[in-house]
Amino acid sequence: MSHDAPNLDFAGSTPYEDYVKADVLTHLQHTLSDDPGEMVFLVTTQVMELWFTVIVHEWETAARALREDRTDVARDALKRSVRELEALNASWTPLAGLTPAQFNSYRGALGEGSGFQSAMYRRLEFLLGDKSASMLVPHRGSPRVHAELEKALHEPSLYDEVVRLLARRGYDIPDAVLQRDVTRKYEPAPEVEAAWTAVYSGDQNGDLARLGEALTDVAELVWRWRNDHLVATRRAMGSKTGTGGSAGVAWLEKRARGNVFPELWTARSYV
Ligand code: HEM
Repeated sequence: MSHDAPNLDFAGSTPYEDYVKADVLTHLQHTLSDDPGEMVFLVTTQVMELWFTVIVHEWETAARALREDRTDVARDALKRSVRELEALNASWTPLAGLTPAQFNSYRGALGEGSGFQSAMYRRLEFLLGDKSASMLVPHRGSPRVHAELEKALHEPSLYDEVVRLLARRGYDIPDAVLQRDVTRKYEPAPEVEAAWTAVYSGDQNGDLARLGEALTDVAELVWRWRNDHLVATRRAMGSKTGTGGSAGVAWLEKRARGNVFPELWTARSYV
């Protein structure tokens, strides 16, 4: 055998398999109907779960780095997550044109299954500051998932760490915000808005201004994911109720209306 060809000889599984677990990953596609279109629905959902996992990892890295005042490490993680959010959002493409008839071919087989029950998406929302203890309820029956969510609920969100950093940098943030109950949804505060207004009115190359822009990119791309999901859902099922039991599109519209990192948007009116 010539020496410039790849190695073919492995005693056990390949080192690629040992690292990637491709054999496991490519045998997790258990479709529930005979419809040939269900495969891409299932795999797109699995692909999105993997992206959620990567993005949660980046934001946890960013939150930890902010706590340690390492804003450059935090910004690097956030910027990686921006590219990943773009890839996540691009994965809507195969489902974006789903018709009601196509979706109906396997919708019944999904039973009450819904993305609403995605624990990794919930962790993503918790990191953004959209905390809610009741979102743990669906996961009572899965101890590992429940424990991870419970931990995430009680940890300060990524945005809480950002606001605490603003305070350490001398911006006047009240104790009510700094010591808020982090298991509750973050509510916008005028002092945080004033801090961002000052940051954005000052040195555009300062690390807080650049951090603010990385967070704004994140917020915009999360909003796009929600809107792409909303439009795909409207195309696939109109105003029917969701498999998860919600009002469907009307419920998702309400969810998509919420602003991510609210003061980063409202401060712009005052710069
Ligand atoms: C085009 C096909 C899809 C339709 C028609 C659809 C429909 C819906 C509906 C109606 C809801 C509201 C809850 C309910 O009553 O079920 C929902 C929630 C959700 N879906 Fe989808 N979905 C689709 C694809 C996906 C995919 C591929 C993912 C990726 C994981 C996903 C993730 C989610 C998440 C995370 C929620 C909860 C959102 C929140 O809590 O704000 N969906 N979906």
